[in-house]
Amino acid sequence: MPAATIPEAANKLDPVVALEKQYLLQNYARYPLVLARGKGCYLYDTAGKRYLDLMAGIGVNALGHGHPRLMSVIRDQSRKMMHCSNLYYHEYQGRLAERIAKASGMDRVFFCNSGTEAMEGALKMIRAHGRRMNPDKFETVALYDSFHGRTFGALSITGQEKYRRDFEPMLPGARFVQRNDVTALEQTVNERTAGIVIELVQGEGGIHPLTTQFLRKARELADRYNALLVFDEIQCGVGRPGTYFAYQLNDPMIMPDVVTAAKPLACGIPLGFVASSESASTAIASGMHGTTFGGGPLACRMALEFFDVLDELLPNISQMGGYFRMRLTELMKRYSFIKEVRGVGLMIGVELEFPGKQIVLDAMEAGVLINCTHEFVLRALPPYIITEQDIDRAVRVLDKVFKKAKPPQE
Ligand SMILES: Cc1ncc(COP(=O)(O)O)c(C=O)c1O
Repeated sequence: MPAATIPEAANKLDPVVALEKQYLLQNYARYPLVLARGKGCYLYDTAGKRYLDLMAGIGVNALGHGHPRLMSVIRDQSRKMMHCSNLYYHEYQGRLAERIAKASGMDRVFFCNSGTEAMEGALKMIRAHGRRMNPDKFETVALYDSFHGRTFGALSITGQEKYRRDFEPMLPGARFVQRNDVTALEQTVNERTAGIVIELVQGEGGIHPLTTQFLRKARELADRYNALLVFDEIQCGVGRPGTYFAYQLNDPMIMPDVVTAAKPLACGIPLGFVASSESASTAIASGMHGTTFGGGPLACRMALEFFDVLDELLPNISQMGGYFRMRLTELMKRYSFIKEVRGVGLMIGVELEFPGKQIVLDAMEAGVLINCTHEFVLRALPPYIITEQDIDRAVRVLDKVFKKAKPPQE
């Protein structure tokens, strides 16, 4: 059938959904949208309808879709070598590790494939660090409302019951405190603590930046008890705050011992890392950790190209982030059901008085992709190349959607 005769995305939706329903594990609650391609900050469905992509694949497509410099890396590297394993050297891991070390202030880097795998690496570093002092020093202090991933280690320190309860028992040794509760942190960290793990801006928890005071206390306690301070920058880091990492927004900077990152790193090719100080790195010796796919030549070259572009983009991220939050704050003045607009750089949350699911669906219908986290918080993680015009368009659409929103009756 010629493409032009397909009238609506809906016509394509049913067979795609039916096939998935029959053959896929039913673990995702997808939005009713079948995407076909993207260009810049825009995505197109199978019927050709255009959507402004404010989600960027949950923070992955940092340079939007089809960026010419990334396309050219893929073309060139796929002809040369896609994979060679970590049995051998290739040209790009060392170069990328140097780049990350310089951007983060860390000394050594381990490459993996995803956020949760980066957290597993960090947790193994925490365990090995504690164990070499004392076998009872294995506890990890993390935060309520955090999200660190779906594998068992990362899940064990994820402070949201809904993700953990079907898989209990978790790994032993996870302790939780409320974000920004300095007293609780002080009461929980002790000589059994081997690590403190913190998202600088809680993403799945509802876009909550942590206070400088809390971070400073975490650093102080990690030093006092010889525990590793780990910053999970998987969602909030690698350019999204308008700096390379969110901890660089604090003045003076509060340095971690370990940083994890993933999402935007290779702009759609899976890649994550654990970066650590020299002293934390000594916890992992040869043979103690590894991966087959992590840090392949294609992924590393993509990330090197991304860093080159990012150097010039950082000011745009801060400016556009500020502009977007300013425009959303204007909307907040007009719609009393908007409780707060918050975030850093291009990681933005709009907290509503009611669940945001219908707003997300209405915005999608009107051609803007956002999502909702922690039930009440609309979340935008747009590509770093977003412009003022794109933001104006997003705000126009959200204004229309908010206008017809019906807050549920008491
Ligand atoms: C802060 C944070 N940590 C870890 C993860 C897990 O990353 P992945 O889904 O790549 O395993 C996520 C994913 O959303 C995240 O936001």
